[in-house]
Amino acid sequence: MSDFTHGFWSLYVAGITIVSILACLLLLWFSGKAKAMTAHDNTTGHVWDGDLREMNNPLPRWWVWLFVITVVFALVYLALYPGLGTFKGSLAWSSTGQHAAEMQKGEEAIAPLYARFAAMKTEEIARDPQAMAIGERLFMNNCSQCHGSDARGSKGFPNLTDSDWLYGGAPDKIVETLTNGRMGNMPPLGAALGSADDVKNVAQYVLSLSGSPHDSVRAALGKSKFGVCAACHGNDGKGNPAVGAPNLTDDIWLHGYGEATIISMINNGKVNQMPAQADKLSPAQIQVLAAYVWGFSNKTAVASP
Ligand code: HEC
Ligand code: HEC
Repeated sequence: MSDFTHGFWSLYVAGITIVSILACLLLLWFSGKAKAMTAHDNTTGHVWDGDLREMNNPLPRWWVWLFVITVVFALVYLALYPGLGTFKGSLAWSSTGQHAAEMQKGEEAIAPLYARFAAMKTEEIARDPQAMAIGERLFMNNCSQCHGSDARGSKGFPNLTDSDWLYGGAPDKIVETLTNGRMGNMPPLGAALGSADDVKNVAQYVLSLSGSPHDSVRAALGKSKFGVCAACHGNDGKGNPAVGAPNLTDDIWLHGYGEATIISMINNGKVNQMPAQADKLSPAQIQVLAAYVWGFSNKTAVASP
Protein backbone atom coordinates (compact mmCIF):
# COMPACT_ATOMS: atom_id res chain seq x y z
CA MET A 1 0.00 0.00 0.00
CA SER A 2 2.90 2.37 -0.60
CA ASP A 3 1.68 3.25 -4.09
CA PHE A 4 -0.52 6.12 -2.94
CA THR A 5 0.78 9.39 -4.29
CA HIS A 6 -1.24 11.45 -1.82
CA GLY A 7 -2.14 10.87 1.85
CA PHE A 8 -5.81 11.57 1.09
CA TRP A 9 -6.30 8.32 -0.81
CA SER A 10 -5.01 6.26 2.09
CA LEU A 11 -7.57 7.87 4.44
CA TYR A 12 -10.25 7.54 1.79
CA VAL A 13 -9.71 3.79 1.38
CA ALA A 14 -9.35 3.22 5.13
CA GLY A 15 -12.52 5.22 5.75
CA ILE A 16 -14.56 3.19 3.26
CA THR A 17 -13.29 -0.05 4.83
CA ILE A 18 -14.22 0.95 8.39
CA VAL A 19 -17.59 2.40 7.39
CA SER A 20 -18.46 -0.77 5.44
CA ILE A 21 -17.66 -3.01 8.41
CA LEU A 22 -19.68 -0.86 10.80
CA ALA A 23 -22.51 -0.74 8.26
CA CYS A 24 -22.64 -4.55 8.37
CA LEU A 25 -23.16 -4.44 12.14
CA LEU A 26 -25.73 -1.72 11.74
CA LEU A 27 -27.59 -3.79 9.18
CA LEU A 28 -27.66 -6.74 11.57
CA TRP A 29 -28.91 -4.61 14.41
CA PHE A 30 -31.48 -2.91 12.23
CA SER A 31 -32.83 -6.13 10.73
CA GLY A 32 -33.28 -7.48 14.28
CA LYS A 33 -35.22 -4.36 15.34
CA ALA A 34 -37.38 -3.69 12.31
CA LYS A 35 -40.82 -5.20 12.47
CA ALA A 36 -42.20 -6.57 9.24
CA MET A 37 -45.93 -6.45 8.69
CA THR A 38 -47.08 -9.88 9.81
CA ALA A 39 -50.40 -11.51 10.59
CA HIS A 40 -51.21 -13.05 14.00
CA ASP A 41 -49.79 -16.44 12.87
CA ASN A 42 -46.42 -14.78 11.99
CA THR A 43 -46.86 -15.06 8.19
CA THR A 44 -46.21 -12.09 5.90
CA GLY A 45 -49.11 -12.80 3.60
CA HIS A 46 -46.83 -13.71 0.64
CA VAL A 47 -47.89 -17.01 -0.94
CA TRP A 48 -46.20 -18.91 -3.79
CA ASP A 49 -47.06 -22.04 -5.69
CA GLY A 50 -50.47 -22.21 -4.17
CA ASP A 51 -49.62 -22.96 -0.55
CA LEU A 52 -45.99 -21.88 0.09
CA ARG A 53 -46.32 -19.11 2.70
CA GLU A 54 -43.53 -16.76 3.80
CA MET A 55 -42.97 -16.56 7.57
CA ASN A 56 -41.15 -13.86 9.52
CA ASN A 57 -38.93 -15.74 11.98
CA PRO A 58 -35.90 -14.14 13.69
CA LEU A 59 -32.40 -15.06 12.40
CA PRO A 60 -30.96 -18.11 14.17
CA ARG A 61 -28.72 -17.20 17.12
CA TRP A 62 -25.71 -19.15 15.83
CA TRP A 63 -25.90 -17.29 12.54
CA VAL A 64 -26.01 -13.91 14.27
CA TRP A 65 -23.00 -14.79 16.42
CA LEU A 66 -21.08 -16.03 13.42
CA PHE A 67 -21.77 -12.71 11.76
CA VAL A 68 -20.55 -10.78 14.81
CA ILE A 69 -17.44 -12.93 15.03
CA THR A 70 -16.49 -12.23 11.40
CA VAL A 71 -16.83 -8.51 12.06
CA VAL A 72 -14.66 -8.72 15.18
CA PHE A 73 -12.14 -10.83 13.25
CA ALA A 74 -11.98 -8.22 10.49
CA LEU A 75 -11.33 -5.41 13.00
CA VAL A 76 -8.65 -7.38 14.88
CA TYR A 77 -7.03 -8.40 11.58
CA LEU A 78 -6.91 -4.80 10.36
CA ALA A 79 -5.37 -3.71 13.67
CA LEU A 80 -2.58 -6.32 13.38
CA TYR A 81 -1.91 -6.52 9.63
CA PRO A 82 -1.66 -3.95 6.82
CA GLY A 83 -5.04 -3.41 5.20
CA LEU A 84 -6.22 0.07 6.11
CA GLY A 85 -4.67 2.39 3.52
CA THR A 86 -1.03 2.93 4.40
CA PHE A 87 -1.45 1.81 8.05
CA LYS A 88 1.13 -0.96 8.53
CA GLY A 89 -0.66 -2.82 11.34
CA SER A 90 0.76 -3.27 14.82
CA LEU A 91 2.71 -6.43 13.84
CA ALA A 92 4.41 -4.47 11.01
CA TRP A 93 4.20 -7.58 8.83
CA SER A 94 4.87 -7.23 5.09
CA SER A 95 5.32 -9.70 2.23
CA THR A 96 8.69 -8.13 1.35
CA GLY A 97 9.72 -8.41 5.01
CA GLN A 98 8.73 -12.08 5.04
CA HIS A 99 10.60 -12.64 1.77
CA ALA A 100 13.72 -10.96 3.16
CA ALA A 101 13.50 -13.00 6.37
CA GLU A 102 13.19 -16.26 4.41
CA MET A 103 16.05 -15.26 2.12
CA GLN A 104 18.21 -14.52 5.13
CA LYS A 105 17.30 -17.85 6.68
CA GLY A 106 18.23 -19.58 3.43
CA GLU A 107 21.50 -17.70 3.18
CA GLU A 108 22.38 -18.54 6.77
CA ALA A 109 21.68 -22.19 6.00
CA ILE A 110 24.06 -22.28 3.04
CA ALA A 111 26.66 -19.92 4.50
CA PRO A 112 28.78 -22.75 5.98
CA LEU A 113 28.73 -24.45 2.58
CA TYR A 114 30.02 -21.36 0.78
CA ALA A 115 32.47 -20.73 3.60
CA ARG A 116 34.03 -24.10 2.77
CA PHE A 117 34.41 -23.05 -0.90
CA ALA A 118 35.84 -19.66 0.08
CA ALA A 119 38.89 -21.38 1.51
CA MET A 120 39.43 -23.34 -1.73
CA LYS A 121 41.23 -22.53 -4.97
CA THR A 122 39.25 -22.45 -8.22
CA GLU A 123 40.86 -25.71 -9.31
CA GLU A 124 39.75 -27.37 -6.06
CA ILE A 125 36.21 -26.02 -6.31
CA ALA A 126 36.02 -27.41 -9.84
CA ARG A 127 36.85 -30.86 -8.45
CA ASP A 128 34.07 -30.65 -5.83
CA PRO A 129 30.87 -32.36 -7.08
CA GLN A 130 28.66 -30.35 -4.72
CA ALA A 131 30.14 -27.06 -5.90
CA MET A 132 29.72 -28.11 -9.53
CA ALA A 133 26.05 -28.97 -8.89
CA ILE A 134 25.50 -25.51 -7.40
CA GLY A 135 27.43 -23.94 -10.29
CA GLU A 136 25.27 -25.73 -12.81
CA ARG A 137 22.07 -24.43 -11.23
CA LEU A 138 23.43 -20.88 -10.97
CA PHE A 139 24.44 -21.06 -14.62
CA MET A 140 21.04 -22.33 -15.75
CA ASN A 141 19.24 -19.57 -13.85
CA ASN A 142 21.50 -16.63 -14.65
CA CYS A 143 23.57 -17.28 -17.73
CA SER A 144 22.00 -19.84 -20.05
CA GLN A 145 19.52 -17.37 -21.56
CA CYS A 146 22.45 -15.69 -23.31
CA HIS A 147 25.23 -18.27 -23.43
CA GLY A 148 22.97 -21.28 -24.04
CA SER A 149 22.29 -24.16 -21.66
CA ASP A 150 25.36 -25.93 -23.06
CA ALA A 151 27.38 -22.68 -22.67
CA ARG A 152 28.35 -22.81 -26.34
CA GLY A 153 26.90 -19.34 -26.96
CA SER A 154 25.60 -18.07 -30.27
CA LYS A 155 26.15 -15.12 -32.56
CA GLY A 156 27.26 -12.20 -30.36
CA PHE A 157 27.32 -14.35 -27.20
CA PRO A 158 30.69 -16.00 -26.64
CA ASN A 159 31.15 -19.74 -26.43
CA LEU A 160 32.46 -20.41 -22.91
CA THR A 161 33.51 -24.00 -23.55
CA ASP A 162 36.41 -23.35 -25.93
CA SER A 163 39.76 -21.93 -24.95
CA ASP A 164 39.23 -18.77 -27.00
CA TRP A 165 38.76 -15.85 -24.60
CA LEU A 166 37.97 -12.22 -25.25
CA TYR A 167 39.05 -11.14 -21.75
CA GLY A 168 41.09 -14.08 -20.58
CA GLY A 169 40.18 -17.47 -19.17
CA ALA A 170 42.20 -17.47 -15.95
CA PRO A 171 39.95 -17.88 -12.89
CA ASP A 172 40.56 -14.33 -11.65
CA LYS A 173 39.72 -12.91 -15.10
CA ILE A 174 36.44 -14.85 -15.16
CA VAL A 175 35.59 -13.57 -11.67
CA GLU A 176 36.33 -10.06 -12.91
CA THR A 177 34.09 -10.56 -15.97
CA LEU A 178 31.21 -11.85 -13.84
CA THR A 179 31.52 -9.28 -11.07
CA ASN A 180 31.83 -6.09 -13.11
CA GLY A 181 30.47 -7.17 -16.48
CA ARG A 182 32.21 -6.31 -19.76
CA MET A 183 31.56 -3.80 -22.50
CA GLY A 184 33.18 -4.72 -25.79
CA ASN A 185 33.42 -1.69 -28.03
CA MET A 186 34.73 -1.52 -31.55
CA PRO A 187 34.19 1.92 -33.12
CA PRO A 188 33.08 2.33 -36.77
CA LEU A 189 36.30 2.64 -38.80
CA GLY A 190 35.23 2.67 -42.44
CA ALA A 191 36.05 6.36 -42.84
CA ALA A 192 39.44 5.93 -41.13
CA LEU A 193 40.42 3.29 -43.70
CA GLY A 194 39.42 5.36 -46.73
CA SER A 195 37.30 4.13 -49.63
CA ALA A 196 34.92 1.16 -49.79
CA ASP A 197 37.68 -0.58 -51.74
CA ASP A 198 40.12 -0.10 -48.86
CA VAL A 199 37.57 -1.59 -46.45
CA LYS A 200 37.17 -4.61 -48.73
CA ASN A 201 40.93 -5.04 -48.90
CA VAL A 202 41.31 -4.98 -45.12
CA ALA A 203 38.43 -7.48 -44.82
CA GLN A 204 40.31 -9.80 -47.19
CA TYR A 205 43.46 -9.36 -45.10
CA VAL A 206 41.48 -10.29 -41.95
CA LEU A 207 40.27 -13.45 -43.72
CA SER A 208 43.85 -14.32 -44.63
CA LEU A 209 44.90 -14.11 -40.94
CA SER A 210 42.93 -17.26 -40.10
CA GLY A 211 43.84 -19.03 -43.32
CA SER A 212 40.27 -18.62 -44.58
CA PRO A 213 39.71 -18.47 -48.36
CA HIS A 214 40.63 -14.96 -49.52
CA ASP A 215 41.77 -12.81 -52.44
CA SER A 216 45.55 -12.60 -51.89
CA VAL A 217 46.05 -9.47 -54.02
CA ARG A 218 43.45 -7.54 -52.02
CA ALA A 219 44.75 -9.00 -48.75
CA ALA A 220 48.25 -7.73 -49.54
CA LEU A 221 46.81 -4.26 -50.19
CA GLY A 222 44.73 -4.47 -47.00
CA LYS A 223 47.71 -5.38 -44.86
CA SER A 224 49.15 -1.87 -45.20
CA LYS A 225 45.98 -0.42 -43.68
CA PHE A 226 45.74 -2.89 -40.81
CA GLY A 227 47.64 -0.47 -38.54
CA VAL A 228 44.26 1.14 -37.71
CA CYS A 229 43.08 -2.21 -36.40
CA ALA A 230 46.35 -3.24 -34.76
CA ALA A 231 45.80 -0.69 -31.98
CA CYS A 232 43.29 -3.14 -30.51
CA HIS A 233 43.67 -6.43 -32.35
CA GLY A 234 47.47 -6.36 -32.21
CA ASN A 235 49.99 -6.25 -35.08
CA ASP A 236 49.64 -9.98 -35.53
CA GLY A 237 45.82 -9.83 -35.21
CA LYS A 238 45.86 -12.10 -32.17
CA GLY A 239 43.64 -9.74 -30.16
CA ASN A 240 44.00 -8.02 -26.81
CA PRO A 241 42.25 -9.24 -23.67
CA ALA A 242 42.64 -5.84 -21.98
CA VAL A 243 40.03 -4.35 -24.32
CA GLY A 244 38.26 -7.58 -25.29
CA ALA A 245 39.42 -7.36 -28.91
CA PRO A 246 39.00 -10.86 -30.39
CA ASN A 247 41.77 -12.92 -31.87
CA LEU A 248 41.24 -12.67 -35.64
CA THR A 249 43.63 -15.51 -36.50
CA ASP A 250 41.84 -18.46 -34.89
CA ASP A 251 38.90 -18.85 -37.26
CA ILE A 252 36.44 -18.49 -34.35
CA TRP A 253 33.90 -15.80 -35.18
CA LEU A 254 31.79 -14.17 -32.48
CA HIS A 255 29.79 -12.08 -34.90
CA GLY A 256 29.73 -14.34 -37.92
CA TYR A 257 32.06 -15.36 -40.68
CA GLY A 258 32.72 -13.99 -44.14
CA GLU A 259 33.66 -10.85 -46.03
CA ALA A 260 30.25 -9.20 -45.72
CA THR A 261 30.22 -9.61 -41.92
CA ILE A 262 33.73 -8.23 -41.54
CA ILE A 263 32.95 -5.26 -43.79
CA SER A 264 29.89 -4.57 -41.66
CA MET A 265 32.00 -4.77 -38.48
CA ILE A 266 34.45 -2.23 -39.93
CA ASN A 267 31.77 0.16 -41.15
CA ASN A 268 29.33 -0.04 -38.24
CA GLY A 269 31.49 -1.06 -35.30
CA LYS A 270 29.97 -3.03 -32.44
CA VAL A 271 29.03 -2.52 -28.82
CA ASN A 272 28.47 -5.76 -26.95
CA GLN A 273 27.69 -6.04 -23.26
CA MET A 274 28.07 -8.72 -20.64
CA PRO A 275 25.90 -7.53 -17.70
CA ALA A 276 27.56 -7.19 -14.28
CA GLN A 277 26.42 -9.81 -11.77
CA ALA A 278 27.63 -8.16 -8.56
CA ASP A 279 24.16 -6.87 -7.69
CA LYS A 280 22.49 -10.23 -8.40
CA LEU A 281 24.97 -12.77 -7.07
CA SER A 282 27.08 -12.78 -3.92
CA PRO A 283 30.88 -12.92 -4.20
CA ALA A 284 30.70 -16.52 -2.94
CA GLN A 285 28.23 -17.47 -5.68
CA ILE A 286 30.39 -15.74 -8.30
CA GLN A 287 33.40 -17.69 -7.06
CA VAL A 288 31.60 -21.02 -7.48
CA LEU A 289 30.16 -19.97 -10.84
CA ALA A 290 33.59 -18.87 -12.08
CA ALA A 291 34.97 -22.31 -11.17
CA TYR A 292 32.08 -23.93 -13.02
CA VAL A 293 32.73 -21.81 -16.14
CA TRP A 294 36.50 -22.34 -15.88
CA GLY A 295 35.79 -26.07 -15.84
CA PHE A 296 34.20 -25.97 -19.33
CA SER A 297 37.58 -25.44 -20.95
CA ASN A 298 39.54 -27.44 -18.38
CA LYS A 299 37.54 -30.64 -18.59
CA THR A 300 40.14 -32.95 -17.11
CA ALA A 301 40.31 -30.90 -13.89
CA VAL A 302 36.57 -31.06 -13.18
CA ALA A 303 34.18 -33.20 -11.17
CA SER A 304 30.87 -33.90 -12.88
CA PRO A 305 27.96 -32.49 -10.83
C1 HEC B 1 22.19 -10.61 -21.30
C2 HEC B 1 23.05 -11.62 -21.85
C3 HEC B 1 24.12 -12.22 -20.96
C4 HEC B 1 23.96 -12.84 -19.74
C5 HEC B 1 22.70 -13.02 -18.93
C6 HEC B 1 25.25 -13.32 -19.37
N1 HEC B 1 26.16 -13.00 -20.33
FE1 HEC B 1 28.11 -13.48 -20.29
N2 HEC B 1 28.40 -12.36 -21.95
C7 HEC B 1 27.42 -11.78 -22.72
C8 HEC B 1 28.01 -11.09 -23.83
C9 HEC B 1 27.25 -10.34 -24.93
C10 HEC B 1 29.40 -11.26 -23.71
C11 HEC B 1 30.46 -10.72 -24.64
C12 HEC B 1 30.86 -9.33 -24.23
C13 HEC B 1 31.73 -8.70 -25.24
O1 HEC B 1 31.60 -9.01 -26.44
O2 HEC B 1 32.54 -7.87 -24.84
C14 HEC B 1 29.60 -12.06 -22.52
C15 HEC B 1 30.85 -12.46 -22.06
C16 HEC B 1 31.05 -13.37 -21.04
C17 HEC B 1 32.35 -13.89 -20.63
C18 HEC B 1 33.68 -13.50 -21.23
C19 HEC B 1 34.01 -14.48 -22.32
C20 HEC B 1 35.38 -14.25 -22.88
O3 HEC B 1 35.62 -14.77 -23.96
O4 HEC B 1 36.22 -13.57 -22.24
C21 HEC B 1 32.12 -14.78 -19.63
C22 HEC B 1 33.16 -15.60 -18.87
C23 HEC B 1 30.69 -14.81 -19.39
N3 HEC B 1 30.08 -13.94 -20.27
C24 HEC B 1 30.08 -15.60 -18.45
C25 HEC B 1 28.77 -15.42 -18.07
C26 HEC B 1 28.18 -16.05 -16.92
C27 HEC B 1 28.85 -17.06 -16.02
C28 HEC B 1 26.91 -15.59 -16.84
C29 HEC B 1 25.88 -15.90 -15.77
C30 HEC B 1 26.11 -15.27 -14.51
C31 HEC B 1 26.69 -14.68 -17.96
N4 HEC B 1 27.84 -14.60 -18.67
C32 HEC B 1 25.50 -14.03 -18.21
C33 HEC B 1 26.07 -11.82 -22.47
C34 HEC B 1 25.50 -12.32 -21.31
C1 HEC C 1 39.19 0.38 -30.38
C2 HEC C 1 39.54 -1.02 -30.51
C3 HEC C 1 39.31 -1.67 -31.85
C4 HEC C 1 39.77 -1.30 -33.10
C5 HEC C 1 40.61 -0.09 -33.44
C6 HEC C 1 39.32 -2.31 -34.01
N1 HEC C 1 38.59 -3.24 -33.36
FE1 HEC C 1 37.71 -4.89 -34.20
N2 HEC C 1 36.90 -5.33 -32.43
C7 HEC C 1 37.14 -4.68 -31.24
C8 HEC C 1 36.36 -5.29 -30.19
C9 HEC C 1 36.34 -4.87 -28.74
C10 HEC C 1 35.64 -6.33 -30.81
C11 HEC C 1 34.67 -7.26 -30.14
C12 HEC C 1 33.32 -6.61 -30.02
C13 HEC C 1 32.49 -7.39 -29.05
O1 HEC C 1 32.75 -7.29 -27.85
O2 HEC C 1 31.64 -8.14 -29.51
C14 HEC C 1 36.02 -6.34 -32.21
C15 HEC C 1 35.54 -7.25 -33.13
C16 HEC C 1 35.99 -7.37 -34.42
C17 HEC C 1 35.59 -8.38 -35.34
C18 HEC C 1 34.64 -9.54 -35.08
C19 HEC C 1 35.40 -10.75 -34.67
C20 HEC C 1 34.54 -11.95 -34.45
O3 HEC C 1 35.03 -12.89 -33.82
O4 HEC C 1 33.39 -11.99 -34.90
C21 HEC C 1 36.26 -8.15 -36.51
C22 HEC C 1 36.19 -8.97 -37.78
C23 HEC C 1 37.05 -6.96 -36.30
N3 HEC C 1 36.87 -6.51 -35.02
C24 HEC C 1 37.86 -6.41 -37.26
C25 HEC C 1 38.50 -5.19 -37.08
C26 HEC C 1 39.19 -4.52 -38.13
C27 HEC C 1 39.35 -5.04 -39.55
C28 HEC C 1 39.65 -3.37 -37.60
C29 HEC C 1 40.43 -2.27 -38.31
C30 HEC C 1 39.74 -1.63 -39.39
C31 HEC C 1 39.26 -3.32 -36.23
N4 HEC C 1 38.56 -4.44 -35.95
C32 HEC C 1 39.58 -2.29 -35.37
C33 HEC C 1 37.95 -3.61 -31.03
C34 HEC C 1 38.57 -2.90 -32.05
